[in-house]
Amino acid sequence: MAAPDRTVKGLRRPVILMGPPGAGKGTQAKQLAERYGVPHISTGDMFREHVRRGTELGLKAKAVMDRGELVPDEIVVAMIEERIGRPDCAVGFVLDGFPRTVPQAISLDELFGRAGRPEPVVVRIELDPAAVLRRLTGRRVCKVGGEIYNIYDHPPKTPDCCDKDGGELVQRDDDRVDVIQDRLAAYREHTEPVFEYYRRRRAVVELDGSASPQAVTRTLVETIDREEARGSHL
Ligand code: AP5
Repeated sequence: MAAPDRTVKGLRRPVILMGPPGAGKGTQAKQLAERYGVPHISTGDMFREHVRRGTELGLKAKAVMDRGELVPDEIVVAMIEERIGRPDCAVGFVLDGFPRTVPQAISLDELFGRAGRPEPVVVRIELDPAAVLRRLTGRRVCKVGGEIYNIYDHPPKTPDCCDKDGGELVQRDDDRVDVIQDRLAAYREHTEPVFEYYRRRRAVVELDGSASPQAVTRTLVETIDREEARGSHL
């Protein structure tokens, strides 16, 4: 059963979606952004946009991303600071793929503290490495609107063509098996310690990412609505 529609838009508390590559962060962040009427902020999408536009940052980021490594902290933090300072973030936002190192998490806490933002709701979506591999090798993304598909579990009605806007569906350059293994290694080394950092300071909500996308969205919405009702400050 679908969760009831909210009439009040916006999120008082920032939402942070974490989890391994392919856990469903982007898929879920899009649903939440639509439901609550807030921006979906994906650092991966921001870098891919720089790559598409051929900026200097895009050239640097592409080399790092194609190796499955992480872009240096100072670059990502500056990008996030600028983005969450924009007026559209006043109503709240969903972070997807940030923070993914302990220094990034510390910087984010400082940014939230300075801006007087309430405690974030931190969600960890879990998925085992075999499922990650299947999902990422099957992922296709619309070149126009960024809609996410999967040739195994969520195919478009017409092959290689987006159901929503007819855009071409493409495979990400970093969704090759060798790069996926390196992304998983980077996740274990740099991002898993972030959960320890958070657990020492606040609750981390853990979700099973292997459930259907609809079931994960339902649980997320229930969790966020419950956490929103509580509220606390850094
Ligand atoms: P980024 O784009 O953030 O990649 P990622 O974290 O590896 O995550 P993905 O986008 O691959 O997966 P997802 O969890 O969003 O899954 P999705 O919803 O698409 O980062 C890319 C690179 O940028 C990094 O490697 C790094 O180099 C750099 N970067 C980004 N942020 C950085 C940072 N903070 N610091 C430093 N560097 C940074 O779903 C995957 C597939 O599964 C899809 O096909 C989807 O249809 C399917 N699916 C989703 N949910 C379900 C479900 N419940 N059941 C079945 N299938 C599902």
